[in-house]
Amino acid sequence: MTTYSSLPVPPMSIRFDPAGGTLQPEGPTLTRRMSDLEGLFRDHAAWEQAVADGDPVVYSVVSSRVPEVERELPQSITTIQPGSTAGELWMTKGHQHPNHQGEIYLGISGHGGLLMFNGTETEWVDMTPGTIGYMPPGWAHRSINVGDEPYSFLAVYPGGAGHDYGWVLEHGMGRRVLAGETGVEFVDYSAD
Ligand SMILES: [Fe+2]
Repeated sequence: MTTYSSLPVPPMSIRFDPAGGTLQPEGPTLTRRMSDLEGLFRDHAAWEQAVADGDPVVYSVVSSRVPEVERELPQSITTIQPGSTAGELWMTKGHQHPNHQGEIYLGISGHGGLLMFNGTETEWVDMTPGTIGYMPPGWAHRSINVGDEPYSFLAVYPGGAGHDYGWVLEHGMGRRVLAGETGVEFVDYSAD
């Protein structure tokens, strides 16, 4: 199955395959290539070059069949590929929930991080298999692969929360996450 279940959603069992980052039964899959991340990397020229050099897949999101509608509780598995563009580690677009509601992520494989920003403060949660990262209502969130293998996590979120990607383009995420000499390095979002 590659579509959402119609309403009412029946009780169901959903299996996930940690190795493949897949869900069964499976709903829609979203694939984000470098060209989908316009305006998000600090070095625009490097981003353009990466698009020209094959426009790689940066991450994919496999959803279960539970639809994104009010009062339902959808889930998805996101897998971010390892890599960096001009030193900035590959990441998701990041979003704010227009209808401020909480969300959890569960680290499944690889090594990542969860960057949260409420417009003033930033928070960072190191994500390894078994870590649950909690995003309170009103905190925009972005995931970053800080390792050298694919990073996968399970997301569980209120179906009526929505996804506002424009919020991040307008407000940033507080910090950027770079590959440093001895690990992850954070820089202010507005720094060149
Ligand atoms: Fe979210």
